[in-house]
Amino acid sequence: MPASTLFVKGCGLRASLYVVKNGRPAPIRQYRQFACHLEARWAAFHFRLSSGGQSKTPPIPLIMAQKKTDYLKQILNAKVYDVARETPLEPARSLSARINNTVLLKREDMQPVFSFKLRGAYNKMAHLDAAQLKRGVICASAGNHAQGVALGANKLQTTAVIVMPVTTPQLKIDAVKRFGGRHVEIVLHGESYSDAYQHALTLEQKKGLTFVHPFDDPLVIAGQGTVAMEILRQHPGPIHAIFVAIGGGGLISGVAAYVKALRPEIKIIGVQMCDSDAMIRSVESGKRVQLDDVGLFADGTAVKYVGSETFRLCKQYVDDYVRVDTDAACAAIKDVFQDTRTVMEPSGALAIAGAKAYAAKHKLKGETLVAIACGANMNFDRLRFVAERAEIGEQREAVLAVSLPEARGSFRKFCELLGPRNITEFNYRIADAKEAHLFVGVQTSKADEGDKIAANFKRHGFKTLNLTNDELAKLHLRHLVGGHSPLAKNELLYRFEFPERPGALMRFLSSMNPNWNISLFHYRNQGADYGRILVGIQVPPNEKKAFKEFLQALGYRYWDESNNPAYKLFLG
Ligand SMILES: Cc1ncc(COP(=O)(O)O)c(C=O)c1O
Repeated sequence: MPASTLFVKGCGLRASLYVVKNGRPAPIRQYRQFACHLEARWAAFHFRLSSGGQSKTPPIPLIMAQKKTDYLKQILNAKVYDVARETPLEPARSLSARINNTVLLKREDMQPVFSFKLRGAYNKMAHLDAAQLKRGVICASAGNHAQGVALGANKLQTTAVIVMPVTTPQLKIDAVKRFGGRHVEIVLHGESYSDAYQHALTLEQKKGLTFVHPFDDPLVIAGQGTVAMEILRQHPGPIHAIFVAIGGGGLISGVAAYVKALRPEIKIIGVQMCDSDAMIRSVESGKRVQLDDVGLFADGTAVKYVGSETFRLCKQYVDDYVRVDTDAACAAIKDVFQDTRTVMEPSGALAIAGAKAYAAKHKLKGETLVAIACGANMNFDRLRFVAERAEIGEQREAVLAVSLPEARGSFRKFCELLGPRNITEFNYRIADAKEAHLFVGVQTSKADEGDKIAANFKRHGFKTLNLTNDELAKLHLRHLVGGHSPLAKNELLYRFEFPERPGALMRFLSSMNPNWNISLFHYRNQGADYGRILVGIQVPPNEKKAFKEFLQALGYRYWDESNNPAYKLFLG
């Protein structure tokens, strides 16, 4: 390996730097150029710093440089390609056209385990010595890391104990068994990644195994950083920003450390779900924040407490953050599907959702945005929920309640007013002799189109409510239209939510054991983040106080929908 010598001429602020390449000194004019040079060449050159050409102070600045460039070195030396492949970086053509920027997808869903996770896991495991490999490894994972560890254990012929939360999708459990074969032992424990993690630490001690952390380990971070190495090689042209989903922060740390060393002008933007935003909250408050709960819809990124090293690296390198909601994640899954015919898992689509939100917020036009499509381990039974919410996330569906006079010709007029629009849903029930109430879903192309359609109906004499942003209408009433009952006296209507997991509905039902009569109950399992239930309860006016106390004691999130106009129209 050729030696490259760095000279400092002069002293203090007036010092000039020269690098000697092929025997000839070349001046380095700016600090950034100097830093980049050190970092860029670290793996390829040995640097020796000297003063004015005389080697008086050789090693001191090198220590500084080494600390700074450590990740670059580790990423360049990472062992990932025994198991991982270099994935394509390809344009998302129709999404790009829709948002007026070039969106490039880094297709990490095309890894053998359908996510980037095997890079970090394998790099860690491949650096273990023979004795450690003989004893075996342990990890805690919500699924994708586990698959990487399982594949690594198989490849390196070691054993892996894999602790997964009980909420882990079956698809991921089966995949771990398939990739690891006889080399893995699966332990299901706890409801979130953090619960599984604590249990894994106990087992690690007990069994003398090596812990393979899913994100907070320099070797894991370096393995994930190889994603960035490929991106910069695959697209040497200008890149405005790279969008990266964050769980514990391993992927973004590796990507950011590499990119900021070589192309510091490229922005690194972290993306989290609104209900799993531990990294954003931690960065905002300057210290690591532990979340009490995390949303489970994007299970790959459902992390309550980020790593200390990943937190440090994010603070240092990440330029900005975006939070996205469930509907936006679903819309992004649809975007990727339209361009690639591949279904991302929710965490795998987060970066795309973040890129869309960021481009809209900053009014970007004509820029190149890279989004890491980082995983496709999607449980099939979630697709119905995703498909339903994607339209709303994309603001491509308006939901309206329209009252029609029970008169000849009024239905025809209603259809004429709708025009050639696609109807996504249509529910109808005669409410009384004078009026019929329609619940109608319409495909739209713009965010405010629902308001315009509603205004048009009203102009033509039809009473209309725009329910596009009404959770009660979208989740429940669309399936319950026509449920007026003269018997439901003193009915109160409540919506409840509980984290969806096996047995949760039964637990909810057994806790709903009040003295009041239940007059309505609607639940639909949508393979979603939360179980959503609508309950009508008949409570005499003088018992309302006791009822409120009962609600408080239940311990579920709830909303009083008794005065919701859509309820009054269709059920009350
Ligand atoms: C699909 C997917 N995306 C993103 C992440 C988040 O990665 P990290 O924990 O390194 O931030 C994970 C973690 O498992 C994942 O599985």
